[in-house]
Amino acid sequence: MTLFEKLRCLLTFGQGVALPLPELSAITTPEQLFKQWFDDANKAGILLPESMSVSSCSADGQPSSRMVLLKSYDENGFVFFTNYGSRKSNELTENNKVALLFHWNVLQRQIRIEGTVEKVSVQESANYFHSRDRGSQVGAWASKQSQKIKYDNELKDRMSHYQEKFSEGEVPHPEFWGGWRVKPKSIEFWQGRTNRLHDRICFEKENGQWTQHKLHP
Ligand SMILES: Cc1cc2nc3c(=O)[nH]c(=O)nc-3n(C[C@H](O)[C@H](O)[C@H](O)COP(=O)(O)O)c2cc1C
Repeated sequence: MTLFEKLRCLLTFGQGVALPLPELSAITTPEQLFKQWFDDANKAGILLPESMSVSSCSADGQPSSRMVLLKSYDENGFVFFTNYGSRKSNELTENNKVALLFHWNVLQRQIRIEGTVEKVSVQESANYFHSRDRGSQVGAWASKQSQKIKYDNELKDRMSHYQEKFSEGEVPHPEFWGGWRVKPKSIEFWQGRTNRLHDRICFEKENGQWTQHKLHP
């Protein structure tokens, strides 16, 4: 974090940062604004600025949230990777409606994204899987994510089993592990400001086109 950014954080903490959101006319796409804010979060020295909450819903309507890491984003959507047998993946398979949330406290910024998910291609998942460190690759085989641990050393035993199994050569990409792409239908940017007069810009996609409006805080 630069000295200027530190000073800005200190001076505005709890009060919102001084700079308002750009005028609506100055913004072309939410992707552009997302990139700008994500770059700002990176530059601010925030630890894991790519952390985001993913909310899914069970078949009987029970929502649940957990943090994951955003691995890529572009005009096609926001991608994260996980176990396809996990609770979140099971829920997203039954109900493809999803919500993402970013919060960068020191910047007094929040981004809310709502949309639907689809699996990324097997090739894309495999490419990312093979880019991970070997321990994480073996760990993906060992973890039956979201399932109950049956006995104390189960995870350790499974890790040892797969370490031995894949002791040589490339760790194969498991078909039960891969990416989800969140295709946004709405994206809201929230910028904290003084006197709780926060700025909110909401983008909504209709017939493939983004419309935008501001919201009362
Ligand atoms: C900062 C942070 C980042 C995480 N990133 C991921 C991730 O990218 N993928 C993942 O499967 N779990 C990730 N986790 C773990 C999840 O929060 C969660 O515990 C796990 O995915 C199981 O969730 P589920 O049982 O609801 O499917 C992360 C946790 C934290 C705190």
